[in-house]
Amino acid sequence: MKLYEELAEQLRQSIEQGLFVSGDRLPSIRALSREHRVSITTVQEAYRYLEDQGFVESRPKSGYFVRTRACMPTLPEVSRPARRPLDVSQWEDILNMLGAENPSRVFSLGHAMPDLSSPTLKPLLRLWADQARRGDMRVLEYDSLRGTEELRVQIARLASASGCQLHPDDLIITTGCQEALFCALRAVSGPGDVVAVDSPCFYGAMQAIKANGLKVMEIPTHAEYGISVEALELALEQWPIKAILVTPTCNNPLGYSMSEERKRALYQLAQRFDIAIIEDDIYGDLAYAWPRPRTIKSFDTDGRVLLCSSFSKTLAPGLREGWIDPGRYREQVIHNKFVATAASSTLPQFAVAEFIAQGGYERHLRRMRAQYQRNRDLMVDWLERHFPAGTRISYPQGGYLLWVELSQDIDCVELSRELSDEQFRIAPGVLFSASGKYRNCMRINFTRGLDERTLSALTVLAEMIAERQPAPV
Ligand SMILES: Cc1ncc(COP(=O)(O)O)c(C=O)c1O
Repeated sequence: MKLYEELAEQLRQSIEQGLFVSGDRLPSIRALSREHRVSITTVQEAYRYLEDQGFVESRPKSGYFVRTRACMPTLPEVSRPARRPLDVSQWEDILNMLGAENPSRVFSLGHAMPDLSSPTLKPLLRLWADQARRGDMRVLEYDSLRGTEELRVQIARLASASGCQLHPDDLIITTGCQEALFCALRAVSGPGDVVAVDSPCFYGAMQAIKANGLKVMEIPTHAEYGISVEALELALEQWPIKAILVTPTCNNPLGYSMSEERKRALYQLAQRFDIAIIEDDIYGDLAYAWPRPRTIKSFDTDGRVLLCSSFSKTLAPGLREGWIDPGRYREQVIHNKFVATAASSTLPQFAVAEFIAQGGYERHLRRMRAQYQRNRDLMVDWLERHFPAGTRISYPQGGYLLWVELSQDIDCVELSRELSDEQFRIAPGVLFSASGKYRNCMRINFTRGLDERTLSALTVLAEMIAERQPAPV
């Protein structure tokens, strides 16, 4: 590594660690030259290098600043899914992306894994070890069907930030949010029924729909405003839809957070057609703006909203700790939970409950929200400069996932196949559709910003896309 690259790397790390945030003035060239005992030219080269990478910007007569985004990127088009209920396909592709191969060897640019390297997670591991050492035999017993009271109390307490008054007795702990969604779907519908979803839609939700013998009705969705309440109304008039399954806050994969008005309108629509709403709030606590947005559940007066979530995205997916407030579907959901896994693992519940009680969850969230917001801008800037003109990119207000829409000629499924020789994988858009749409789209994870591994994967990807991009006419 050349001297200026070393210096640039140090500065980049300071920015990524949050020592300098968006818009901050960086040390002057002279100051850096003195501090690092390098020449003025080396510092200038380091800054120019960082400018090319999109980390900093120079302002005439003022010096260098951490780059800020002035405006949104060009957002993806409103989706136009099929206008009829469909059977869900795509299982083979999903299996391939999730990686039958060793996931720690192959870097996944598209996986929805949070950053697990933060020191704010360390106390959780310590609490876990303490719990095991304590010799409390409860961790080896079957837990109650609803999960430990300690954790349910903490979840109910946290829910007030989203405008919800949940009671610990109403909550059921599940093995991840995936189980919560599965139990919820089974509770509100029967084989052959239709469930409406936003489109693109998280593939795990669609697989749960498929596994329950249901059909999916994909509804047009906007990358900023969310699922179209108007299109949903038309669909409800036309088809016997039993439930709506939606991730209205920090959506996966589009990143949108619906406004309070639109959430309320969605709830009122569900009331009018007397159907259930399965609300997936798994990324809700990662909203960059705090206090976080309200859930649809917070408007629920008649128990038709089944609120599903987990700690998989806010803390770590390996915990396998999720929960559901099933509203009026309590009996069915408890039965489904019993049939699926009987009880969830007890030890991690004690550890997480203690972590939340000690303030560790809030401390961790504060750090991750700032990191993810910073990394969103770095990633969007980079993609705008290195992906072909005309690329459309989502601009999430929370979480850590981007939706990228390339020109119609780029087939991300093909790209993904060709990457099988490379040490990284992508998540082609087709996974997020029941009918094979979004072949020209992909989801990108920006948890680690532009660290070395991400940057080198992105660079390979940008070259492959450029080779396939048709020349402008
Ligand atoms: C929107 C959404 N819901 C549910 C899940 C499943 O979560 P868990 O790992 O807690 O089962 C995921 C995981 O990627 C997700 O993105």
